[in-house]
Amino acid sequence: MDDSRLELFSRIFHTRPQILSSAPGRINIIGEHTDYNNGYVLPAAIHLRTCFLAAPRRDTRVRIWADDFQQQEIFELEAISPSEAYRWANYVKGIFWVLKQDGHRLGGVDAIVWGEVPLESGLSSSAALEVSVIKGLSSLFGIDLPGLSLAKLAQKAENDFVGVQCGLMDQFISVFGKKDSAVFLDCETMDFAILPLHLEKAGLKILVYDTRVRRELASSEYNRRRQEAARALEVLRGKGVRSYKEATLERLEEARPGMGDIPFQRARHVVTENERVRQAVEALRRDDFCLLGDLLFKSHQSLRDDYEVSCPELDLLHDVGRAFPGCLGARLVGAGFGGSGIALLEKQTTEDFRKRMLAAAAEHGFPRPEFHEVDIGEGASVSHLDRAEST
Ligand code: GLA
Repeated sequence: MDDSRLELFSRIFHTRPQILSSAPGRINIIGEHTDYNNGYVLPAAIHLRTCFLAAPRRDTRVRIWADDFQQQEIFELEAISPSEAYRWANYVKGIFWVLKQDGHRLGGVDAIVWGEVPLESGLSSSAALEVSVIKGLSSLFGIDLPGLSLAKLAQKAENDFVGVQCGLMDQFISVFGKKDSAVFLDCETMDFAILPLHLEKAGLKILVYDTRVRRELASSEYNRRRQEAARALEVLRGKGVRSYKEATLERLEEARPGMGDIPFQRARHVVTENERVRQAVEALRRDDFCLLGDLLFKSHQSLRDDYEVSCPELDLLHDVGRAFPGCLGARLVGAGFGGSGIALLEKQTTEDFRKRMLAAAAEHGFPRPEFHEVDIGEGASVSHLDRAEST
C-alpha cells in the first residue's frame, strides 16, 4: 500500500489507522455450480485484492469511506439495516451484522475500503470485500476464529443480509488461497488439498476475458438453479443415492422418469462437473494441461446446455477459444449469466488471442471484452500498523 491511503485516512478521520487487511478475488479452474450442491470445486485466488484500512472508535458508530465510489456510509452498531443508496455498503454492513449475530463484541470503527477486483465480472469482488472486512474486524477486536469460520460467516452475511444465496466457494478461496496453487475443496466434508499450478514452467497463462455483460436477473436465476438441482437430488435420494458426489449417470437415468426434464439436466451438469473436477485434479497432479484444457471446454458446454447459465457473449468467446490453436481450454467462470470466462493459453499467443476475441465480439455487435492476465495469489491477510485510537 502506498502512503496516499494513509494520508487519505488521516484527512477523512483525523486519526491513524490501526490495521490493514486485504483479501483476493478468485478464478475457478473448474467445478461450477457444484459448491452449493455439496460437490467439488477447484478455485484459485488471484493477485487482485480488496483492502480494508481501519481504526477502532470509542463509541458505537461506524463510518466507511469507499474510495472507489467516493461515497461514505455511516451507521450505528445497534441499528444495522441494509443500505438503500449504496450496494457496496451492504457487504460491509453484513459482516458487522453477522459478527454481532455470532455473539462477538464489536465497537465503532472508522475505515476506508478500496479494491482492484473488477466489479460484477464473475471474479468475486463481493467475497473479497466481505473477507477483507471480516479479517480486519476480527483482528481489530481480538476475535479469534479459524479460517473456515471466517469464510462461513462471510457467506452467511451474503446469504442472510445481502440476500444472495451463494455457496461457500468464493469466501473459502478468498481466505485459503495459496500463491501459484489451486485449492481442491470437497464442499460436503470441507476437506481440501492445495495443488501447485505449474503454469509458468509449462509456458502457460490464464487470461480472464470479461464480456462486460451484466444480467439483472442473475441472482434470481441463480436461486432458481439451486432449487432445480435440489429437486433433482430429492428424487435421487428417493432412489437411495445419498448425494451428488455418489450419483452416477446410470443412477441418474434410472431416476429420470420421476424427475422432470429441467431438474434432470441440472443434475446431469452437477454429476458430470464433479467428475470433471476429479479428473482435473489428476491432470494437475501430472501437469497434463492438455487434459485440463479439454475439461474446461467440456465444463463450458455443460454449463451452457445443461445448467443454462451461459449467454451468447460467453458462448462466442468460448468458441473463439476452441478454434484458437494456442488455447488449451476456455470456459465461463463463476455464476454465469454474463461476466467473465477464463482461457488457458500458451503464453506467447496471448496478444493474438485478445485480438481474435475483440474482432469476434465486434463482428457480432457485442460489447468490447476486457482482459485481465491473472497471477495466482495468496488468501486474506492482515497487518497491524500502530496503536492510535480514533475518537
Ligand atoms: C457464485 C457463487 C459461488 C458459486 C458460483 C458458481 O460465484 O458465489 O458460491 O456457486 O457462483 O459456481
